[in-house]
Amino acid sequence: MIQLSFEEQKGQRKFVVAWSITFLVLFPVLIALGLLMRLNQGEIIAMQPTTFYAIMTLHGLGMAGVLFSMSFAGLWYLIGTRYTKLSLGMGYFVFALTLAGVIGLTVATLIGNYAPGWYLLYPLPFVGTSWEEWSNGMAIISLIILGVAWIIGSSHIVSALAKEYDGAFNLLGWQYLGKKEVKREVPPIAMITTISLIAGVMSFLIGAVFLLLLLLKYFEPSLSFDPLLLKNYVFFFGHTLVNITLYCCLGWVYELLPEFTGREWKTNKVLVYSWNCTFFFILFAYFHHLYMDFAQPMIFNYFGQIASFSSSVPASAITMFGIIAQFYHSKTKWGIIPTAFLLGVAGWAIGGFAAVVDSAIAVNKILHNTMWVPAHFHTYMLCGVVLFILGFLFYITHSKAEQERNKPAKIGLWLFITGSAGFLSMFYMGGLNSIPRRYADYASSPIASTHDTGALLAYIAAIFIVLILVGLLTMYASIIFRLGADKRETL
Ligand code: HEM
Repeated sequence: MIQLSFEEQKGQRKFVVAWSITFLVLFPVLIALGLLMRLNQGEIIAMQPTTFYAIMTLHGLGMAGVLFSMSFAGLWYLIGTRYTKLSLGMGYFVFALTLAGVIGLTVATLIGNYAPGWYLLYPLPFVGTSWEEWSNGMAIISLIILGVAWIIGSSHIVSALAKEYDGAFNLLGWQYLGKKEVKREVPPIAMITTISLIAGVMSFLIGAVFLLLLLLKYFEPSLSFDPLLLKNYVFFFGHTLVNITLYCCLGWVYELLPEFTGREWKTNKVLVYSWNCTFFFILFAYFHHLYMDFAQPMIFNYFGQIASFSSSVPASAITMFGIIAQFYHSKTKWGIIPTAFLLGVAGWAIGGFAAVVDSAIAVNKILHNTMWVPAHFHTYMLCGVVLFILGFLFYITHSKAEQERNKPAKIGLWLFITGSAGFLSMFYMGGLNSIPRRYADYASSPIASTHDTGALLAYIAAIFIVLILVGLLTMYASIIFRLGADKRETL
């Protein structure tokens, strides 16, 4: 543990509060956009398809960006106050760039009607467009700004940790694999952060190449690129971003859970092997997004299936075993923080299982581009990542005793879980009924049952989304007023 002066502690806290407020404001707004989409699909409101897709684009990019930013901010705070000094100047620079990127994307989508979806799949952002031309350039530049921000922020954390622990190999835990005695323990959060953020930087760089090519085409329309190559770039970026968001949050679960169970959770050989394997699988599992691309080399399909199946073993199985070992007979008091962490791991497991099912080629032939896909990634993002983030927000605002006593917050959590379970079930049932994803509404479907079932499921989902918002705002009531006070002052 490093020693920080009171002023330095306070500075880091202000910094994480700034990120937290941004998350707390943007997250329900993005949920409201999701609600609008479901209301339209459920035929309760009627919006133009162009508006629907602009909303879908902002919702998708916004959610992925906001959740990654908050998971990054949580790691920054825990690492910067415990394991190595991090520059607040650099932190605020990253924060300002991120805000600039978010504002740019919001203007491009809500004013310019920018609507190609999060993937900007080439040649889509340039052909048959329904949006203003300037919004294309603005969205591409905003995404580049976000990428630059995340590369700078991630590199800063990893390089500061590497300096503190004498090099990246130590951070990856390789000294645990030899016969020599380990001189300095590496906390799991430092190893997981390093693995996640190095993979993140690799994907941001590929994302940057993709975006720079699009930017070149924006300025010089006569240019053309290989669509298959660009699809590989964007899915490598997108798949990795979502994966590392989860892993960054797991970093703080490893760090904070022992404070509630009273059991140590240390780095050892098994953890090192499993997380190092995970590094490999994060980079290659995205091949399952390419199954339908007949022009791709066939070997990629086999590779995608094997990597996707294998990716669920090391980090997931080992972490879940670790979670069970943490709780088993531990006499943990079920305050909101350990509850949110445990349920978050369950959400990750359920969504992860649904993802692995879909990554089986035989199943993917049927479920591809049905609602099953949003079902699985919404499960581990909403009931995994978001629960980890809520647990973290309670951690920085509540003392141990306060989070045990806070009944309204616990009620809020259970409303959130109930609402999420209902909302997600409608996505899964949609998948099982072959309801296509990314349809603004189902009125144009020539199959009556697709229209009727799709609209009905969306209608029911909308009711559950309201429950999610009620639960979320109930928890907010506990968090918001305590953000200003350091919880140590209230102990
Ligand atoms: C209560 C919260 C949420 C609601 C109500 C909601 C709702 C929706 C809806 C209705 C769609 C369109 C699905 C379709 O018809 O294909 C969608 C798409 C999407 N959502 Fe959410 N969502 C929520 C949370 C999240 C979270 C936490 C994430 C985190 C990454 C997320 C990321 C996305 C993405 C990336 C898409 C676009 C998928 C695509 O391109 O097909 N959403 N969401």
